Amino acid sequence: MFGLGYVGSVTAACLAELGHRVIGVDRDQGKIESIRKSHAPFFEPGLEDLISANVAAGRLSATDSAAEAVADADICLLCVGTPSERNGNLGLDQLRRVTEDIRAAFAARTTKKKLIIAVRSTVFPGTCEQVVAPLLEGLEGISIVSNPEFLREGSAVVDFREPTLVVVGGNDPESVAMVAELYEPLGVNACQVSLRTAEMIKYACNAFHAVKISFANEIGALCEPLGIDAAEVMSTLCVDTRLNISTAYLKPGFAFGGSCLPKDLRALAYRANRLDLKLPLLESAMPSNHEHLRRAIDKVQNLTCARIGVIGLAFKENTDDLRESPVITLLEHLIGKGRDVRVYDPHIKLDAIYGTNRSFVLNAIPHIGRLMEASVDDLLGWAEAVVVAQKPSSTLAARIQSSGLPVIDLVGYRASFATA
Ligand SMILES: NC(=O)c1ccc[n+]([C@@H]2O[C@H](COP(=O)([O-])OP(=O)(O)OC[C@H]3O[C@@H](n4cnc5c(N)ncnc54)[C@H](O)[C@@H]3O)[C@@H](O)[C@H]2O)c1
Repeated sequence: MFGLGYVGSVTAACLAELGHRVIGVDRDQGKIESIRKSHAPFFEPGLEDLISANVAAGRLSATDSAAEAVADADICLLCVGTPSERNGNLGLDQLRRVTEDIRAAFAARTTKKKLIIAVRSTVFPGTCEQVVAPLLEGLEGISIVSNPEFLREGSAVVDFREPTLVVVGGNDPESVAMVAELYEPLGVNACQVSLRTAEMIKYACNAFHAVKISFANEIGALCEPLGIDAAEVMSTLCVDTRLNISTAYLKPGFAFGGSCLPKDLRALAYRANRLDLKLPLLESAMPSNHEHLRRAIDKVQNLTCARIGVIGLAFKENTDDLRESPVITLLEHLIGKGRDVRVYDPHIKLDAIYGTNRSFVLNAIPHIGRLMEASVDDLLGWAEAVVVAQKPSSTLAARIQSSGLPVIDLVGYRASFATA
């Protein structure tokens, strides 16, 4: 275990408790001495007892010698710090240095067995391949795995023992399986992914947690001047485990639209502003959505073919509601640039649409009627490329697939079919 900080000490003690022989390495003599004397190097509930029990059992020791730790190791877990630099970038000095230490120690090994380097420190996607791997180039029998850490200080020991997520990424399935096996006694199946995916998942998790906290705090900030109990609002929100506390809305796809989300976000931002409240997270949802739509428009504009078929016109599948549909904005841009587009939406019959719904689309694209195809076969027969702007049914998806046309999948339907 390289690095006996918050992550390394807890991981070392917990893996020793599972029966592994663990040697902790650090450059800080204080931490080494502390473990040798059966003390935790810092306060973390349950850690002191774990360290003293496992040092006494001979399963856990500490040293400043990389050579001693690497000599007979199967796996080196890297838990060194990756602090922020002044510009916000990640500081990789400790990671580079520890990799160089391991390189030198590995070269001096007498055993010919393979060594797995498992990076537990939080590192930006690509770091294992672009920073760690080049420093180990030329060495036979080393493989690199990403095994990000998810524990929380204050409940780190419990988090290790009862993990909700274990991720192991790498290019060598045998090494990935071997690191995943470390966690098997904890009753969790590690998610086995690619190196970069493993590195990214850690950032996605931390960003998600930060966004959740800021969301709850901004809702709370708005509740206060309105005399509303924010805790009651949030705990009631959490009662809905289908749409709120669930996997719903957590798949990368197309921009949101419709008659509710944009309208209600605008009202929240307006009212907050009148209360002199700044709610940057909530206020940024609409600009974020516009940016996402702009990226989609750029992607479609980059098509070089003449005839573009668009699947979907309503703001989502299984509705004929056209209000604030991002597809209409997409079409406006394409038409404005002189592109030849036609549209098929299984639920839109223009003559059957009334009221604001109808005027919304006619205001934006007065000749929309001439662009609509009555069947998907007509659309696919005419088009040279297809843009899927609404999640298709499995029959429709199969039909698109069998057309052999190039597809721009804006909604991520192909990924969801692949994982279904
Ligand atoms: N602290 C957390 O709650 C937490 C949770 C998940 C992930 N992480 C990530 O895990 C990593 C470690 O975090 P931490 O809080 O344990 O950091 P830390 O600063 O507490 O510990 C890092 C340790 O690495 C040691 N070190 C540096 N260079 C070394 C070398 N060449 N050889 C041996 N030891 C060396 C340092 O002396 C220090 O003791 C970071 O990337 C962090 O982002 C932290």
